Amino acid sequence: MCGIVGYVGQRQAVEVVLDGLRRLEYRGYDSAGVALVAGGALGLAKKAGKLANLESALGDAVLPESTCGIGHTRWATHGVPSDRNAHPHPSADGRIALIHNGIIENFGQLRGELEADGVQFASETDTEVAAQLLGREYALDGDLTEAMTRACARLEGAFTLLAVAADDPDTVVGARRNSPLVVGVGEGEYFLASDVAAFIAYTTDAIELGQDQIVTIGRGGIAIRDFGGDPSEGRPYKVDWDITAAEKGGYDTFMRKEINEQPTAVADTLRGRIDESGQIVLDEVRMSDQDFRDIDKVFIIACGTSYHAGLVTKYAIEHWTRIPCEVELSSEFRYRDPVLDRSTLVISISQSGETMDTLMAVRHAKDQKARVLSISNTVGSTIPRESDAVLYTRAGIEVAVASTKAFLTQLAACYLVGLHLAQTRGIMYADEVKAVLDELVATPDKIATLLKDMEPVRELARESAAFGRVLFIGRHVGYPVALEGALKLKELAYIHAEGFAAGELKHGPISLIDDGTPVIAIVPSPRGRSLLHDKIVSNIQEVKARGAKVIAVCEDGDDITGVHADHVIATPASPTLLAPLLTAVPLQEFAAELATALGKDIDQPRNLAKSVTVE
Ligand code: F6R
Repeated sequence: MCGIVGYVGQRQAVEVVLDGLRRLEYRGYDSAGVALVAGGALGLAKKAGKLANLESALGDAVLPESTCGIGHTRWATHGVPSDRNAHPHPSADGRIALIHNGIIENFGQLRGELEADGVQFASETDTEVAAQLLGREYALDGDLTEAMTRACARLEGAFTLLAVAADDPDTVVGARRNSPLVVGVGEGEYFLASDVAAFIAYTTDAIELGQDQIVTIGRGGIAIRDFGGDPSEGRPYKVDWDITAAEKGGYDTFMRKEINEQPTAVADTLRGRIDESGQIVLDEVRMSDQDFRDIDKVFIIACGTSYHAGLVTKYAIEHWTRIPCEVELSSEFRYRDPVLDRSTLVISISQSGETMDTLMAVRHAKDQKARVLSISNTVGSTIPRESDAVLYTRAGIEVAVASTKAFLTQLAACYLVGLHLAQTRGIMYADEVKAVLDELVATPDKIATLLKDMEPVRELARESAAFGRVLFIGRHVGYPVALEGALKLKELAYIHAEGFAAGELKHGPISLIDDGTPVIAIVPSPRGRSLLHDKIVSNIQEVKARGAKVIAVCEDGDDITGVHADHVIATPASPTLLAPLLTAVPLQEFAAELATALGKDIDQPRNLAKSVTVE
C-alpha cells in the first residue's frame, strides 16, 4: 500500500521518480506527489487523484537541474485523499520533505507533543508527525541520517520513510520497519523503492533491507545502519525479470495480460520441482523430510484471494495426507488464540509477501513455536524472510490489483506442498503421487485451451451487467472457487456478488433469488456419476425453479448439467481436486468483462491497492 521512490544519480530526478511512480501506481492511486532537491531549493508538488493529475500540476516544482528526489503514490489511511493530505509532507521550516508507507500508531501522542512545542500541522495525516519530528531533529545538526535515526526511535507502528533535505542535494535517507523497501544499485546512481518494479528499467542489481534499518543513498554510495545507529548490511540480489514483465505487452489492461499469462505462470511454478521419477523435490523450502514427518496439524493463514487458495488446499491436504487442516483469515487468526505447537505446520499464502495481517499472523504462529512455511510470489519480501521455510510461486510481477495468475500459481504451489507431505509421510504410494503430478503438469495446456475461447464468457458477462447482482454457488473445492468468483466481481464491478456453499442456499440465501437473478454454478466432474455432481444439479434446479438464470461452469461433455442450466461454460476434464485451476479462469474473465461493460477501471478498482501493508 502506497508506492514510494527515491533517486540520487546523474539523470533528471523528476523523470526517474515519475517513471517509478507510474510502475508503482498499483500500490495506491488516490493522490501522488514528488519532492526534488537542487541548488538549496526543495521543489514540492502533490495532487489528489491519479498520477496524471500530479503530472499536469508539477509547475515550478520540477527543478530541471535536480538529480535527487522522492515520490509517493498514496492509499489513504489517516485523512481523506486531498492535495494537502498527499505526500510528501514538508517540515514546518520547509527544509525537509518526507514520504511514508504504513501507519504511525503513536501519532496522536507525538502530534500533541509537537503542537505543544508550537508546530502547526497542515494535514490530518499520521505521516506529517514523522515529517515534523524529522524536521525538528534535522534542525539540531543538519545531518539527515542522524536525524532519521533519532526520529525513528520515537515512532511506533509500521513505516517505510524516505526524506530529502533542501540543502543536501546528494542524499536520500530511508527507514524501514514492517513495510517494504528495496535499494537499486546502478552505475553511479541509486534508487530506493517499495518494489523493484520502480527501478527495473535502470538496474537489476538490488539490495534487500532488513527490519529496522536506515539506509542513506548518496553520490558516494550507500550506507546501512540499524535503528540503534550501528553499521548494518542488506542482502544483495539480482532481479530475475525485466521491464517487459511490468508492461502491458499489447493488452489493453494488465488484468487481461495476467489472465492470459496463467498457463506459463503455472508451468513455471511446477518447473524443476518434480524429478524424472515423478517425486516432488522441494529442497529449496528449507524443511527436512523429518520436519514434514513431525507435523500433526496444518493451519493455513491468508487474506482475500490467497485465502481462497488456502480453502482449496484444505481439501487437498486432508484428502492426500489425512492430517487435519484448518484455514483461517490472517486478520482473525491471532485474536482467536489458536492451539499451535512445534508439530503444527502453519502455511502462509501471500502474493506480495508483505500483507500486514498475514505478517502479524506469521509472527504470532512463530511465537507459539509452530513451523511456518510461506508461499509467496515476491522474492525477499518480509513474510518469506521471517518464515522457517518458503516456496516461491513464479507468476512474475502481478500489476493488476485483482489477483489472477497469483491465485492459480498459489494453488499449484499448495498442491505441491500437499503431495510432498503425503510423499514424505508415506501416506500415498509413489505411483499415486505421480498420477496426480501428471495431471498437474498437464493443466497449463488445459488452461491455454480454455483461454482460447473466452468470447462466450464475455458475452454472458455483458448480458449479466444489467442485472446488478450475481450469485455464485459451488460444493467441495467449487465452493472456494465460488467465493473467488464473487470477490473478483465485487472488487472490479462494485456490484453485489456473493459466493455460497450450494447446500447452504436453502438455509437462507435462496430468498435472494428472483426473476432473472444470474447464478453461476461451479459444477464438479460428472465422471463416475459422483454424488457431489448430482447434488449440485439439484441445487441448480432449485434456483431455476425460483427464476434464476443459471450459468454452469462444468466439465466438457457434462450433458446432465447442460439440460438444466441456461448456459454452459465448458472446462477441460480434470480430477476434482485440481479443477479450481480451470474453473476459476472463466470467472476472472467474466468479472473483467462485466466491470468493463460498466465502465470500470479493472486494473485499479476504487478504494483498493495491491500489497496491503496496514492492518
Ligand atoms: C483480490 C486480491 C486480494 C489479495 C489479498 C492478499 O483480487 O488481490 O484479496 O489476495 O489482499 O494479498 P497477498 O496475497 O499479497 O497477501
